[in-house]
Amino acid sequence: MVAADRLKVRIAELRALINHHNYRYYVLDSPEISDAEYDELMRELKQLESAHPELVTPDSPTQRVGAAPVEAFGVVEHRVPLLSLGNAFSKEELLAWHKRISNLSGSQHFDFVCELKLDGLAVALTYVNGLLVRGATRGDGYRGEDVTQNLRTIRSIPLSVRRNDCPAEFEARGEVYLPKVSFKKLNEERARGEKPPFANPRNAAAGSLRQLDPRITAQRPLDIYIYGLGYAEGKAIPTNHWETMEYLKSLGFKVNPHNAYCHSIDEAEEYHLIWQERREGLPYEADGAVVKVNSFELQQQLGFVGHEPRWAIAYKFPPTQATTRLRDIGINVGRTGSLNPYAILEPVLVGGVTIKQAALHNAEDIARKDIRIGDVVIVQRAGEVIPEIVVPVASRRTGQEKIFVMPSRCPVCGAEVIKPPGEAMHRCLNAACPAQALERLRHFVSRGAMDIDGVGEKLCIALFNAGLVKDVADLYYLSGEQLLGLERMAEKSVSNVLASITKSKYRPLARVIFALGILHVGEEMAELLATHFGSIDRLARATYDELVSIPTIGPKIAESLVAFFRQEENRRIIDKLRKAEVKLGGEASPPKGAKLPLVGLEFVISGRLQSFARQQAEAKIKERGGVVGSSITKKTSYLVVGADPGSKLTRAQELGTKLLSEGEFLHLLADTEHGEV
Ligand code: IVH
Repeated sequence: MVAADRLKVRIAELRALINHHNYRYYVLDSPEISDAEYDELMRELKQLESAHPELVTPDSPTQRVGAAPVEAFGVVEHRVPLLSLGNAFSKEELLAWHKRISNLSGSQHFDFVCELKLDGLAVALTYVNGLLVRGATRGDGYRGEDVTQNLRTIRSIPLSVRRNDCPAEFEARGEVYLPKVSFKKLNEERARGEKPPFANPRNAAAGSLRQLDPRITAQRPLDIYIYGLGYAEGKAIPTNHWETMEYLKSLGFKVNPHNAYCHSIDEAEEYHLIWQERREGLPYEADGAVVKVNSFELQQQLGFVGHEPRWAIAYKFPPTQATTRLRDIGINVGRTGSLNPYAILEPVLVGGVTIKQAALHNAEDIARKDIRIGDVVIVQRAGEVIPEIVVPVASRRTGQEKIFVMPSRCPVCGAEVIKPPGEAMHRCLNAACPAQALERLRHFVSRGAMDIDGVGEKLCIALFNAGLVKDVADLYYLSGEQLLGLERMAEKSVSNVLASITKSKYRPLARVIFALGILHVGEEMAELLATHFGSIDRLARATYDELVSIPTIGPKIAESLVAFFRQEENRRIIDKLRKAEVKLGGEASPPKGAKLPLVGLEFVISGRLQSFARQQAEAKIKERGGVVGSSITKKTSYLVVGADPGSKLTRAQELGTKLLSEGEFLHLLADTEHGEV
């Protein structure tokens, strides 16, 4: 073979190989080689073609991208009009359609093909002698736009068919769509470029296909499912829809694998029901099932009415979008202090559910989508997710709409609101903010924080609901009586809880810093801050510049710390902690003798104690330097009152001696356990 022939053979071989792998990957979703191997084949073909441009053919797999932009799309006259479909919105409407076609055709029995109704845009692909020569949009059904160059960029559209016995000329029809993930990505990209989002994948697909520059289309991962044959010349084609779809598959077209052959209208109804439930899990948007009479003969007999065939119907799924008016924007303060705006809507039905509110995410999102109070908006409710506003309908503005401004004070507690740099959310940093108190309390008592044993989820809620703990420092002011008043709190558990609370006063500084729940300050950062500053007071006085000069502290953390300690409420909590003798670092070392914190105090015990025997109690007092007396005198500092206290109590009351319940006594012992009061 001469060199020129060898070259032609290799080029043909590469094209066949690449076409085969394209088909495996894009149509069958079942690749046989790695991306790298594929790229290598493509690289070789491109190289040969650029050295020999005379050998480039329009159906070469290299010819899918890179066509030059056009000024405007040409107009394509459809040889056979592209019609639309009538809709059924309920089972009754589907059955009424079935009755109509039964009456019209005189036949009671039909076989149907059921397909998913993809939410994209219809296109017609014309093939002459097996080559794609034109691709057009539906347009008004009679005249569409010539988008051939753009359609060529969709890899699942064959540039040439896979059989040489195909009709001399034919038109395949299908739906071009953008998968859900690509839609999401595209909208995220648009958000970064400050462009308004596409309302749905259909608009995004249409916007992507109707690009005057095919190179832009090539970057959008559009795909297609073929659902019909417009016309075919020069070869007999099957006599029903199902076999026609099988035939189109054999030519290399991508046909939806979820198409189903149904032997009755009941089966069609079931298909609809099944996919209504599964639609969320599909990688593309489907808004219904298309029920088509299978036999072409029956199709012809039934014919058309207006722009719609009688032989097919779109049995729609409940809609996920609706338009309504945005009455106002409310603010909900989250458990972590984030200010979450939400839409207050004029109630509207979406897929059978009345929607009154919708998520709005954050102020940036509202601004980017240019959502204004008073706007008519498109709302979306998909599956179980919270309804959200997709876009405003700017064309319906009256000029009365108001631009939303985030409040500068927390709507719950009135504290200053800040927007940490680089973050989307506005936040209330007040640790005493009632909207956050419970969550902050939970965090404060948790393992890695103050680790207060016995104060779990339930007790946190009970303390919070009873109004006993409004901020974390209140924990240290709880009395035995208050705790006993709570449900399921007996003497024993009360004394345990009081003991663990007291114990937590001696946690290392890093734990306290972490427990305060300062935005962006995790355990490691708390450790670093504790080591560097040595006390809460020094940390609280640190300026932004001081903080950022410390390696590993960036602007985000510095800003958050400064903002936290600027809040008066937060400083008040720290003072309360200090007064309760929680160690906050920087305390003077305890004076000598402090190991015996009860020196100079005399205790008398009366009645039975539940927690330990009398001797044990006495031992604990003595260990701490206290004295135990047997009767109440003026010198008695405290009477510890157990069960059935008897006459000592009366005497103590006469003399005005201080009384300690068993819980308070335990508290005191725990308090003095470390030899420091
Ligand atoms: S058949 C004459 N099958 O729905 C019947 N259409 O409202 C022509 N569509 O413009 C359409 N999936 O864009 C058919 N499996 C499917 C479809 C489908 C989506 C779209 C198509 C058409 C519109 C009709």
